Amino acid sequence: MPAVRELERNVLGCDYGGTSWTTRAQAEHIAESLTLQPGVQLLEVGAGSGWPGLFLASLTGCEVTLLDIPLNALRQAVERAVEDQISGQVRVVAGSGTALPFASASFERLSHSDVLCCLPDKLELLRECHRVATSDARMHFSVIQPAPKLSSSDYQEALDVGPPFIDAPGGYESLLRESGWRILDRIDVTSEYQQSLQKLVDGMKSNIPALQEALGADELASQRQHREEQIALIERGILQREVFVTSAN
Ligand SMILES: C[S@@+](CC[C@H](N)C(=O)[O-])C[C@H]1O[C@@H](n2cnc3c(N)ncnc32)[C@H](O)[C@@H]1O
Repeated sequence: MPAVRELERNVLGCDYGGTSWTTRAQAEHIAESLTLQPGVQLLEVGAGSGWPGLFLASLTGCEVTLLDIPLNALRQAVERAVEDQISGQVRVVAGSGTALPFASASFERLSHSDVLCCLPDKLELLRECHRVATSDARMHFSVIQPAPKLSSSDYQEALDVGPPFIDAPGGYESLLRESGWRILDRIDVTSEYQQSLQKLVDGMKSNIPALQEALGADELASQRQHREEQIALIERGILQREVFVTSAN
């Protein structure tokens, strides 16, 4: 679907079929903060069709293991790795982040983009990431969450309009502590998230016929309305997106 891919390029700066809000600049920050380079083993949990894991392998020469549940997305990742001539650096594994099919201490670098807001078992995933991490490993992740100290009605709006499992009542600081991760850096990327959402809505408005053809009129209208609702919640200080860089020791 060329119109959908073009929209993704305008919003995120790349066209891997991404479903997180990680932009190309943020993917470059992953490479930098995890000091990715040839020979380094990166595990991308919830990799979808390969964004940003495949980009990171191309950019830095690292070896990447892409893990997710839906096979169709993983198949797209395999095709893209072949197209980009990086198959030798890429391993694709079907499995769950809450029961990783790897031995303990297998990876020195881990990454996930907006995955924790897409599943209920956040602590289990973080514990599993820690189990498969080497003692000096680092993990980079982004997550969308309700802003702190909301009224109960605002909190409910965040749950209704945000990603499906946005609820994290104790917050990520305590989840990370409980799972053995130490926070090295924590960056608020809400304004970048809002800009991406706005670019998406603007792109939808400016290419209606081609996007209606690709997605169907009802689906396009419903996606646009959903994104506009999310922008409104960000403007009201209800939704936020953060990046964490963490250490296993
Ligand atoms: C927001 S998408 C991100 C996909 C991709 N990494 C990207 O940046 O576009 C979240 C991904 O988490 C995956 N996911 C959800 N629960 C999971 C689990 N238990 N184990 C592994 N992946 C999971 C979903 O299938 C989805 O591909």
